[in-house]
Amino acid sequence: MNIKLIEKAEKSHNLNKEELISILKDSSIDKILFEAANRVREKYMGDEVHLRGIIEFSNICKRDCLYCGLRKSNDNIKRYRLMPDEIIDLAKKAVGYGYKSIVLQSGEDSYYTVDMLKYIISSIKKLYIAVTLSLGEKSLEEYKAYKESGADRYLLRIETTNKKLYEDLDPGMIHDNRKRCLRDLKYLGYEVGTGNLVGLPNQTIESIADDILFFKEIDADMIGLGPFIPNEDTPLRDFKADNFTMSLKVMALVRLLLPDSNVPATTAMESLNRNGRIIALSSGANVVMPNITEGEYRKLYAIYPGKICINDTPNQCWNCINGKIASIGRTVSKELGSRKKAI
Ligand code: 5AD
Ligand code: FES
Repeated sequence: MNIKLIEKAEKSHNLNKEELISILKDSSIDKILFEAANRVREKYMGDEVHLRGIIEFSNICKRDCLYCGLRKSNDNIKRYRLMPDEIIDLAKKAVGYGYKSIVLQSGEDSYYTVDMLKYIISSIKKLYIAVTLSLGEKSLEEYKAYKESGADRYLLRIETTNKKLYEDLDPGMIHDNRKRCLRDLKYLGYEVGTGNLVGLPNQTIESIADDILFFKEIDADMIGLGPFIPNEDTPLRDFKADNFTMSLKVMALVRLLLPDSNVPATTAMESLNRNGRIIALSSGANVVMPNITEGEYRKLYAIYPGKICINDTPNQCWNCINGKIASIGRTVSKELGSRKKAI
């Protein structure tokens, strides 16, 4: 019966909550699900893989999410901040390697004023690349100012659509405000990326099905999701679980339901499986986001343990990922990689 549901989703790109739950709970059909997602990816997105270089420019965060190593209560981590011109220099180097798109990511760090961010964004936009921001919750006015400076896209994972779970795990944060942010970003004309964590303590399969339906409901342009990986320096250190296959299934279902959205093979997947990104690229993903931060900062952006590439240079990552993509017969796109709506 679940095989029939996968066939239906491959054609109609629709499943209801019960159908999603039934597939998520059935481990006997995983291979069939991954192959269907791979066919839908090929049909709608082709064989090109888009590379987005991530600059992790500050690990300082005013939030205290229980799962995240950058949480403000973690005294076990050396904090850093890159200055605007250092960030711009990293972006210039990325363009030199061949990146057409970069992501500026940080903790929620109030040090960077709107004027500083406008300067950073507009300077990087002069390089004719797509700029994605991943800076957390801001006001409509701030999002508007960044958009006017040229930012194209914004990533803000909903993390979980379960309000209670979200507010338990992210003390002081309000789930409705996160939804407000996503609405504002859409309204302002950003390409909007969201996503969830898979395997959080007290998260149910039912709740994961709701997450997938939420991505479809808001018609997310990008969906980045990954396994929850317990961090020793957080209160969730003892919550051991292997969420790799479940994350991959959620990602494959996302591809079936949102066939023309950009879906990254995330770094967290590769942290749990040394071939994780290639497996993800063969199960529905069409984007990879290599790290282009330099030096010790890579190690210090320690959201979860086992993060890959912390001793590599941006140049090594560029060569490595290009080689991996070629090894599965795919090509690296030379375009900016905006979402092209097909349905
Ligand atoms: N394991 C995996 N991913 C995590 N994130 C935060 N903490 C963890 C963890 N322990 C993810 C969140 C956030 C993104 C930047 O990192 O989903 O949005
Ligand atoms: Fe960084 Fe492979 S992508 S070393």
